[in-house]
Amino acid sequence: MSGRGLILGIETSCDETAAAVVERGARTLSSVVASQIKTHARYGGVVPELASREHLRAIVPVVRAALAEAGIALADLDAIAVTAGPGLAGALLVGITYAKALAAAQGLPLIAVNHLEGHIHAVLLHESEAKPQYPSGAKAQVDFVASTAVMAKAMTYQSCPDTNQRLSATYKADEKTLPSPNEATLALVVSGGHTHLYLARQAQGAWSYRLMGRTVDDAAGEAFDKVAKLLGFGYPGGPWIDALARYGNPKAVPFAFAQIKVKAHLAGKVPKTKAAKTAPIADLDPRFMFSFSGIKTAVLRYVEVHGLRDDARARVARLFAPGVDARPPQSKEEARLLCRQQVLDLVASFQCAVVGDLMKKSFAAAESLGARRILVTGGVAANRELRARFSAEAARRGLRVDFPTLAMSTDNAAMIAAAAWGRFLAGEFAADSLSADPSLALGR
Ligand code: KG4
Ligand code: ZN
Repeated sequence: MSGRGLILGIETSCDETAAAVVERGARTLSSVVASQIKTHARYGGVVPELASREHLRAIVPVVRAALAEAGIALADLDAIAVTAGPGLAGALLVGITYAKALAAAQGLPLIAVNHLEGHIHAVLLHESEAKPQYPSGAKAQVDFVASTAVMAKAMTYQSCPDTNQRLSATYKADEKTLPSPNEATLALVVSGGHTHLYLARQAQGAWSYRLMGRTVDDAAGEAFDKVAKLLGFGYPGGPWIDALARYGNPKAVPFAFAQIKVKAHLAGKVPKTKAAKTAPIADLDPRFMFSFSGIKTAVLRYVEVHGLRDDARARVARLFAPGVDARPPQSKEEARLLCRQQVLDLVASFQCAVVGDLMKKSFAAAESLGARRILVTGGVAANRELRARFSAEAARRGLRVDFPTLAMSTDNAAMIAAAAWGRFLAGEFAADSLSADPSLALGR
């Protein structure tokens, strides 16, 4: 234990094996991400069995690289944080099992983190790094009072008031860096597996979340991936659509989103997907619910009615023929040259409609909850049109909107280590029985 508040984060919930070292939840010392994109690309989506196998291969070198990049040894760590869910069961288990073993071997507390909370903390981490909190030299003087003996006591994985008090006292300076207490913040987590709206509040260093809305079927990122596959682009589809949409007319195809009927979903009339399983939707306001399976079907219909199928097949043959290494950004530029204007218009219209729907519901929720601030995070938050339009609308309404860095929008472990900091201070450690929870819900 270094006494510097160093947490090793481990993330293996989907198709990235990631490890990072974050100091006091506020400064990233290292962030290593081993992507499995090449493994899954040929299938156009994540294959769970392959994901687990790749995590097994990568976990040890990725953790070693994170420690080396941070310039620290295992003995310098103060805790280990790991994603407990939601995600793919086999993939999560690799990270959890490894984190448990490492924590036990090093005599360190283990902290279980919800992946969705991690995404929210990616924004907060970016914010604290943008505003350096330590006066020069002060960081090194932190008096870490939790002795090895105290930490050993905490290792019983019970909430330990004595340890908690000492840890809180030691680190109370951190609270200065957090947003004002009880400030209502609306968080939109929009990724390949989730489209969730939360009301987030922070008091005395601890965050609490209330689910306000979510998708009843596909996640927004899933729609990007499926539409990109349908049109013969690469995987993951979001970055391809993002790059190509710039060349099309966003008003060419008028896509519409119907009002969501929550009751129909509860009655089982709308198919449940992986995204829809992560939290119950009873009592949620239909105005803040999303559905992206309809627009995906509308794009499919457009492709069929306008005879664009062969066009997409030809693109796949040119871009992804065996031996062709689809290297971005060259391949995206090549893809553009292989698209007739009608396809570029379709892509631009799709993206414009999805971003418009995310905005409409997010701003409506912020207004109804009195939230002055919106956080947008998750893989889809990397989208350029989304960032530009959310920023413009927030400015128009006098609201604040924040995003993670581009690198931290997609899955990484720094966000997991950052989200663990509050739990570390509170002494909320994981039990020995910690296991993967593929449907872990955030908040209530
Ligand atoms: O957060 P993430 O890495 O993993 C999940 O937790 O799902 O998000 C991955 C998703 C994919 O669906 C990908 O297509 C989408 O984020 N994505 C984007 C962009 N970059 C990644 N979607 C739209 N525009 C982008 N630039
Ligand atoms: Zn994610």
